[in-house]
Amino acid sequence: MDFIIRKGNLTREKADVLILNAFEGFKKFGGATDDIDKALGGYLLSVAKEDQFKGKLGESVVVRAHGPISARRVLIVGLGKKEDFDEETVREASAVSLNVCEQLGAKVVVSVLHGAGNGKLSPKISGKAIFEGARLAAYKFDAYKKKKNKLTVKSFTVVSTDGRDVTQAQAGLLVGQLGVEGTIFARDLVNTPSAQMHPSELVKLALQIGKESKGKIKVKVMDKSACDKAKMGAFLGIAQGSDHPPFFVHMSYRPTGAKKHLALVGKAVTFDSGGISIKPAEAMYTMKLDMAGGAAVLGVFKILARLKPNVIVDGIFAACENMPSGKAIRPGDVVKAMNGTTIEVLHTDAEGRVTLADALSYAVKQKPDAIIDLATLTGACMVALGEEITGLMSNNPKLENKLLTAAATAGEKMWSLPLEKNYKRELKSEVADLRNIAGRYGGALTAGLFLQEFVANIPWAHLDIAGPSFAERPINAYTGKGGTGAGVRTLLELLRSF
Ligand code: BES
Ligand code: ZN
Ligand code: ZN
Repeated sequence: MDFIIRKGNLTREKADVLILNAFEGFKKFGGATDDIDKALGGYLLSVAKEDQFKGKLGESVVVRAHGPISARRVLIVGLGKKEDFDEETVREASAVSLNVCEQLGAKVVVSVLHGAGNGKLSPKISGKAIFEGARLAAYKFDAYKKKKNKLTVKSFTVVSTDGRDVTQAQAGLLVGQLGVEGTIFARDLVNTPSAQMHPSELVKLALQIGKESKGKIKVKVMDKSACDKAKMGAFLGIAQGSDHPPFFVHMSYRPTGAKKHLALVGKAVTFDSGGISIKPAEAMYTMKLDMAGGAAVLGVFKILARLKPNVIVDGIFAACENMPSGKAIRPGDVVKAMNGTTIEVLHTDAEGRVTLADALSYAVKQKPDAIIDLATLTGACMVALGEEITGLMSNNPKLENKLLTAAATAGEKMWSLPLEKNYKRELKSEVADLRNIAGRYGGALTAGLFLQEFVANIPWAHLDIAGPSFAERPINAYTGKGGTGAGVRTLLELLRSF
């Protein structure tokens, strides 16, 4: 699908579908929709009313066009309430229109620049969001299908009569393209079965990213013996049951003159069977998703050298597979993390936090200004927040607020959970410094408290993406079933203003 933003006049655009919009509860249309309606002698308004179109977000109505305009059909997409209009509205509306155009078998699509003239949104943001919505909605994972998914929409053109708006929207498009590329990269990694996505594959991808960056991103890979030397006993303990060797990966982007330094850490368990504390079948079949944190970090690095933030960024993940076998870690075994803390592994399915103990300890050694980890860490976070919301835990309110703002801008849902000190008692072990499981309640919080033991005093935020990283049902018009690429666009937003 070619995506173009250019100057033009909507009445004269030859298209299979012309996309216009309306706010919820409209009496009359506004802007471009009104212009086209006038050209059609009020036909759009009468059909919209007849078809009970209310202008709600997610709603749309298709009208056959004739005579004075060159498009064959007009699609009016609902923007929802005027007072709620924002970047996410545009993403959603654009995704809905792409989905309808696909159903209609349209090839050439022309869209109005949503929000132009509304004043609430700059053309730059609108251009970015229209692209993100349409392109992410068009995503399908078909690597394993005989029949490949072919988009019927060949060109999606956004048109404005105002040359300055066009220039701005084109600048937004460039930013959107990076976010989409990173997101789709992460989606593909999560969707790929664990048989093809073992730790060495993640290493290959990281090295490829380094190569593509022409030296802007350095990649250090540590194999098992290097991890041993670095005293990563926690990570290696979880990894020891699998036939696939573990790898620790450190990518670094260091632009000259950067004054700030951020470390991104991703959970990268390429398959989580639960280990000896094995999962029941119905809890296991989606567990290829358990490297989604690592995939998000790779997604960010995929486009980082082109985004060019003036920030040093470290990307860190400890990749392994959590498997039961004669070599596997046993409940009750004690491991020692890189920072010297010993952990009694009472439950081998609470493995993510144990691998992160070393990944976070390693991140601390880089002396960053802040650490953000992304991890498909707990089912408990899904019990608390449902399937679509990321749980955020942080020792630093400033970082926490920055992340909440970035997530809202990116249209990713995120909610703060507390790091309640009193609950630390749950992590006390009889034989080691910590145990890796706690009591029945507040499982997302005790997992967060466990991680906190490994970040020293560095400003840190933990994103539990167990729910939103993998959609078992579509989340919105541009996020279908499967890997979602959760976190990538939020992190890009954050990096743009860090
Ligand atoms: N990878 C899982 C968490 C998970 C569950 C992610 C569902 C996505 C969807 C994690 O390693 C795990 O198994 N956590 C356990 C912890 C428990 C044993 C303390 C859980 O949440 O049940
Ligand atoms: Zn687990
Ligand atoms: Zn896991």
